[in-house]
Amino acid sequence: MFKKFIVANWKMHKTIKEALLFLEQFIPLVKDVDDREIGIAPTFLCIESVGKAIKNTNIKLCAQNAFYKNEGAYTGEISPSMLKDCGVEYVIIGHSERRKYFFESDEIINKKIRACIKEEMKVIFCIGETLEERQNNKTFDILKSQIIMGLKDIDMPDFINIAYEPVWAIGTGVVATESQIKEAHIFIKEQIKNLYGDSADKIRVLYGGSVTPENIKSIMTTENVDGVLVGGASLDALKFSKIVKYEKSI
Ligand code: PGA
Repeated sequence: MFKKFIVANWKMHKTIKEALLFLEQFIPLVKDVDDREIGIAPTFLCIESVGKAIKNTNIKLCAQNAFYKNEGAYTGEISPSMLKDCGVEYVIIGHSERRKYFFESDEIINKKIRACIKEEMKVIFCIGETLEERQNNKTFDILKSQIIMGLKDIDMPDFINIAYEPVWAIGTGVVATESQIKEAHIFIKEQIKNLYGDSADKIRVLYGGSVTPENIKSIMTTENVDGVLVGGASLDALKFSKIVKYEKSI
């Protein structure tokens, strides 16, 4: 059985100095945690410094994005092989902010997932419906098509984690209810079972969207939740440590 996975997505926050200050506080707070995996996805600019600071700790280096080519004339992009070279183990792909602001399509996301897996990095593949899609009863259609298109021709379930992040719950303070999370996760697990059979059991399905120290316990104890992807509440070392050690959270 896999370990639960708790990942910080720092988005476009923290200078190198701020990132190192966070780690100075955070590393001792979680040093004894060994029954779950902890990941931090800093900005690209911080990735090398953060990678050095968490070397030989129980924290895994994650990236927020990657391009789908390993080198070439692609101004402003960072390649999977460059991330691998920095010690990145997991790459977040298809975050709703990438889909919305950078126009990433399911096809592009599929290419990115394949490129990362080729470099032997694992992915945290994000899916989720918008508020409008939910209100129009399209949630399951959207999740299904994002899964089918994003994972097209990918036969390596060991390298895949999925993050269910309802777009309306991201950064809004509106957390999905336990029953909404449960039914989405059950549906996602059915879909990946159709794709990978029993090997789908290797795929962790995380929840993301307004996770806090106050709601983490009920989220983590919801059936079929194998971890969380945390934005806002991961920026503060004490708050994020409470999320990691969720049994003790309020
Ligand atoms: P949030 O972000 O925790 O700030 O809602 C989650 C995410 O976007 O991964």
